[in-house]
Amino acid sequence: MRVCGGLRRAASFAFSSGDGVGPGGKPRRRAWEKSLSPLERVRRMLPPEEAAEVGRFAEAPQAPAEEKAAAPPEAAATQPGPFRAGELVLAEMRRKYNRTLKLMCRLVVGSVLTSNGGLLPHRDIIGQMPGQMLRTSAGARVLLKRPSLEEYVLLMPRGPTIAYPKDISAMLMMMDIQPGDTVLEAGSGSGALTLFLSKAVGPKGRVISYEIRDDHHSLAKKNYRHWCAAWKIGHMEEWPDNVDFILKDISTAAMDMKSLTLDAVVLDMLNPQSALPVVQPSLKQGGVCTVYLANITQVIDLLDRIRTSRLPFLCEKIIEVTHRDWLVLPAKIKNFKSSQAVETLENIEETPQKEYEENYIQDQVVLTEGEYNESLSDDTETHCSVPYIARPSSWQDAHSAFLIKLRKFGPLHA
Ligand SMILES: C[S@@+](CC[C@H](N)C(=O)[O-])C[C@H]1O[C@@H](n2cnc3c(N)ncnc32)[C@H](O)[C@@H]1O
Repeated sequence: MRVCGGLRRAASFAFSSGDGVGPGGKPRRRAWEKSLSPLERVRRMLPPEEAAEVGRFAEAPQAPAEEKAAAPPEAAATQPGPFRAGELVLAEMRRKYNRTLKLMCRLVVGSVLTSNGGLLPHRDIIGQMPGQMLRTSAGARVLLKRPSLEEYVLLMPRGPTIAYPKDISAMLMMMDIQPGDTVLEAGSGSGALTLFLSKAVGPKGRVISYEIRDDHHSLAKKNYRHWCAAWKIGHMEEWPDNVDFILKDISTAAMDMKSLTLDAVVLDMLNPQSALPVVQPSLKQGGVCTVYLANITQVIDLLDRIRTSRLPFLCEKIIEVTHRDWLVLPAKIKNFKSSQAVETLENIEETPQKEYEENYIQDQVVLTEGEYNESLSDDTETHCSVPYIARPSSWQDAHSAFLIKLRKFGPLHA
């Protein structure tokens, strides 16, 4: 059984308030119902006076045909550009013991990124392109990135344990989710799986996410809203507004299901067998229900309930998703005498006192600061002049869950 809360965080995380996304209950504005021109998108992000200026520009006479031909294509005009105030940045700093410190925060003019590697004012980040390397006040190198959805869900605030991205990818494939699909989820938890479902079904699809606990329901909504707000600023386009968060025990939602046809169902909750009889009638025949369970005894309970209650599900697959992390890194030659005496940089460092501290993530490849600088320099080195060590990392992700793929079948024709 997965525990709720109390887990070690992989990185610290700070959000500023006021993300500009409308609270629940308001009429839904679906971004795809109105396709905005690039100019209109820019106009909406500006203060009113400047927006009016852009509006006047839009109304100006059109450029002659030859000038139009020289203009950049529309796609180029909407490409995500440099970091802007209000979006999320992921700052990465290399640390000892093969670790990378990852800090995610919302960019606010006047704020400062703080770590024990030094300070970096947000105003120095705003205007830089993602992928830029900067130095902190203490001289540490910081790589600046726009967080991917995977990085965001691993670093965002958590209530209950999230479904891990490696498992989510497998579940999306099991359910064969397509853009435009309607998917039901229980429970929302911290909202990690919900965000991936939202991405998979796209602007024409719909995710209906049930959660029994008020605090988890609020957190999932908040994490979703923050991602949408940051996406809008960073990518200059709307993230699909396609999730209905519902605060309700799924096992009491039979009436809600009557009006629904579901392409897929995913259950990440205690006692998923209590939800199956409720959601089953709305799941289309041939559709898949994926269940995420931590213990094999829970898997047995689930399958036993399906058998004894004669629910129309066939268990097609039970899997555990394991990833094996590898280290590939230059070795140091001791005393420069024999290539037999090579050790990985990892072994040469003193052993870490404890397991992971907060804010650190095991990296696949580690270079010391000196070597890191070297790898960034223009010096050409003979191909393979440095011996490399390649072996599975001593740190491997532990078991996360069993994924159960259940297929709904139709009644047997006589
Ligand atoms: C492990 S968490 C889900 C994590 C989520 N998938 C994520 O990626 O963030 C399980 C959630 O199921 C909720 N839950 C448990 N029983 C439920 C029920 N009968 N109906 C709706 N939600 C339920 C819990 O409150 C909890 O928030």
